[in-house]
Order: sequence, then C-alpha cells, then structure tokens
Amino acid sequence: MSVLFLKRFLSRPKQVASIIPSSRTLIRKVTGKMKFDRPRVIGEFGPGEGCHTREILSRMCPESKLILFELDPELAGHLERNFRDDSRVTVLNADAATLPQALANRGLAHCDYVVSGIPFSLIEAEKKRALLRATFDSLAPHDDSAFIIYQVTNELRDRGHCNHFPRAESEYCLANIPPMFVTKFYKTANGHAKRTA
Ligand SMILES: C[S@@+](CC[C@H](N)C(=O)[O-])C[C@H]1O[C@@H](n2cnc3c(N)ncnc32)[C@H](O)[C@@H]1O
Repeated sequence: MSVLFLKRFLSRPKQVASIIPSSRTLIRKVTGKMKFDRPRVIGEFGPGEGCHTREILSRMCPESKLILFELDPELAGHLERNFRDDSRVTVLNADAATLPQALANRGLAHCDYVVSGIPFSLIEAEKKRALLRATFDSLAPHDDSAFIIYQVTNELRDRGHCNHFPRAESEYCLANIPPMFVTKFYKTANGHAKRTA
C-alpha cells in the first residue's frame, strides 16, 4: 500500500477520494482501452502516485507525450521526482480544467486520449459541466480518440453528463477496492469498439 497516498487521503478525503491506489486489474482494463501503435498525446487527470501513469508509459512509444494534472501538491511533487528522467512526461500541479491551456502552451491542437481517476461525483455541477465540455473539445476528431474514466458510480454516463460524446461503453471491475466502472466515451460515433489489451 502507498503510505503517501493514504496520508494524502487523510489530508484531503474529498479530493483524493480513495485510500489505496488502483489495482493491477483495473489499471490493465483502463490501459487496454487505448491503442499504442503510434505516437499519442495523452492527458491524465488525477494520477495520484502514478500507478496508471507507469503502465501507460511502459506502452507508449518514444514520440508520445503524457501530460499529468494532479491537484495535490505532495502527490504532484512525488510524480515530478519519479518521472523526471522521462522526457515524454509533463507533471502539472494543476486542476484538470486547465487541459486546453496546457495543450495550447505546448503547441498541441488536441490530445488522443484523456484518462481520468478524479472523483467527478464530488465536483459541483457547473464546474463538472465545463470540465466535461473542455475535455470533449480537447480530444482529436478521429475514431480512436476517447475519454476513459474509472469511477465508483457510473454517474457521468447514467445521468447524461457526457451526452455530448456520441458513444460510450462501460464495464465493471470487481477486482479493485472499491469496485469501479470503467467507461470509455468516444469522440466520434464510429469510435473503434475493439479492446486492444
Ligand atoms: C481516486 S484518486 C486516483 C489516484 C490514481 N489515479 C489511482 O488510480 O490510484 C483521485 C486523484 O485525483 C486528484 N484530483 C481530484 N480532483 C482533481 C482535479 N480537479 N484535477 C486534478 N487532479 C484532481 C486527487 O488529488 C487524487 O490524486
């Protein structure tokens, strides 16, 4: 168990929202929803201590870029130290809502995937709406492009918060504490359905 993660949960329970990092099974399910056969630009919301980050990096090709948005300063510092030797990674101690500016600052028009572990159910409605719209707008207009979330509830799909995404697929991961839904929201209606794990 990550002691740092537990400490940050105790310090900011509503923001960190989990006492232990994601399980290997959940990490593989999430990463299996992305294609790594070509250079990708990926945004990760709420990487925590970096368990999904490590798996994504192990599969990304050298020309890819991974931009991390972590609100907690101690977790962001930990990520910075852990990934400082990997030039594909940018660590931002910033809100996920800064994704459009982060892309623009780096001369990037879009990203191919956004992966998110942030607790959307605890985000106030107007902020949530704006973040989900900005996420959609930041994704590249091609059929692989997607927003992939892991959450205890499937409220983003069930309550229609992501209705501006034309297609979605969900699965339930029991092998995690707590069990979570993994939902992939496609940028286009023709988004590729096949998993590529
Ligand atoms: C449930 S933890 C997930 C951590 C890790 N991804 C994992 O799977 O174990 C949620 C993380 O999101 C971060 N977070 C919450 N709201 C955020 C926001 N608006 N922008 C960026 N990070 C946020 C928290 O600080 C925390 O590290």
